[in-house]
Amino acid sequence: MYIDIKPCAALRGTVRVPGDKSISHRAAIFGAIAKGVTRIANINDGLDVSRTLTCLTKLGVDLSFDGRKVYINGKGYFDLAKPTDALDAGNSGTTMRLLAGILAAQDFTTTITGDDSLQRRPMQRIIEPLRRMGADITSNDGGFPPLRIRGGELDGIDYVMPIASAQVKSCLLLAGLGAWGTTTIHEPAPSRDHSERLLRTMGALLSKQGNTISIRAGELRGIDLQVPGDLSSAAFLVAAALLMPDGEINLPQVGINPTRSGFLEVVEKMGARLRLFETCDVGGEPVASIRAESSRLTATEISGSLIPRLIDEIPILAVLATQAQGQTTIRDAAELRVKESDRLHLLAVNLRNMGAAVEETADGLLINGPVSLRGADITTAGDHRLVMAFAIAGLVAQGATRIQDAESVAVSYPGFFDALRSLGVDCGE
Ligand code: S3P
Repeated sequence: MYIDIKPCAALRGTVRVPGDKSISHRAAIFGAIAKGVTRIANINDGLDVSRTLTCLTKLGVDLSFDGRKVYINGKGYFDLAKPTDALDAGNSGTTMRLLAGILAAQDFTTTITGDDSLQRRPMQRIIEPLRRMGADITSNDGGFPPLRIRGGELDGIDYVMPIASAQVKSCLLLAGLGAWGTTTIHEPAPSRDHSERLLRTMGALLSKQGNTISIRAGELRGIDLQVPGDLSSAAFLVAAALLMPDGEINLPQVGINPTRSGFLEVVEKMGARLRLFETCDVGGEPVASIRAESSRLTATEISGSLIPRLIDEIPILAVLATQAQGQTTIRDAAELRVKESDRLHLLAVNLRNMGAAVEETADGLLINGPVSLRGADITTAGDHRLVMAFAIAGLVAQGATRIQDAESVAVSYPGFFDALRSLGVDCGE
């Protein structure tokens, strides 16, 4: 399904973005292996999190819904049931990688698969350390899904992660929770730390020093949790307000965890008129309301340890860079080639089709701005973040922009186009 976006000059209003996707996955998975009930309010309503919930149900976990609240009757780590058929993680790398950590320690065999995109995503990064812990895992050649995980007794390892990845880190923490001894993980740079925060809150024996995290086996206890708004969804609306000649947006109660907030730092450095207020702590996560207004932007450099802190915001930052004065350099971001799509390539191709001055490098993009964009037909490969990034680009382009496979916004933000409509954007019915 495609959506046509018409250009727009004014965008004003207040939007409540959906619950944070990363925290929602974790709350559901940790709740499932905890003892007692976990109540999750404002759980993300997208397809990825719903895949996690369905997989947990297939593992014998009892869940019930009350609007955006989910009640999870924790089974405990070693009381999950063997699923009768393969688990399907759909488009969700987080579902596959986090669940693999737990499945590796169970006394049964599970197969976990996913959609075409997920079947092209690298799993060697979890297979290798899980095998070192004692797991028996087979995959398609090259470490691609489906994964067949024959669980068993695991031993803790000391593991130096070659890449900063919260999914790999969380997978190993979850395996470590059911392993003999201590599991120690060294990250090359800090990735999102929602797992560490939540595991500790739920009673895990976890310690952290710099970029090194250690965990020992132990029981989690169920908790009540309120999921903050998703900064990765908020970023698209912030960008829209910044780019509009007449823009002002208010986004209440958004997570601003410092391991996720690189986007806010970068746009501020680019000259964004941005204000964070009502800052507070919600369930161990820092939260604030965000106000963003129409701004004149200048180019910047995005590289190094900043990359994991804004990994999912690079598509929208690339769109912003086309409207910023000077050359924006994005480096050290080769990971973007193995996300839901090859984001570096599709960003370069589509932005160029819109008239932007973009060069694709092995690990990033060089973008010169400002350039007047023109509407184009956008190929998104069903990647939700590309759909949303190009919808925002379309607002400042001349003529209509047709976004292909637009239904994929449902992966993380099913209400995205309704939110744009509520702000006065013309994107059809
Ligand atoms: C996520 C971690 C990131 C991010 C993904 C969600 C998570 O991936 O890109 O959308 O919830 O842990 P990596 O940790 O693999 O970089």
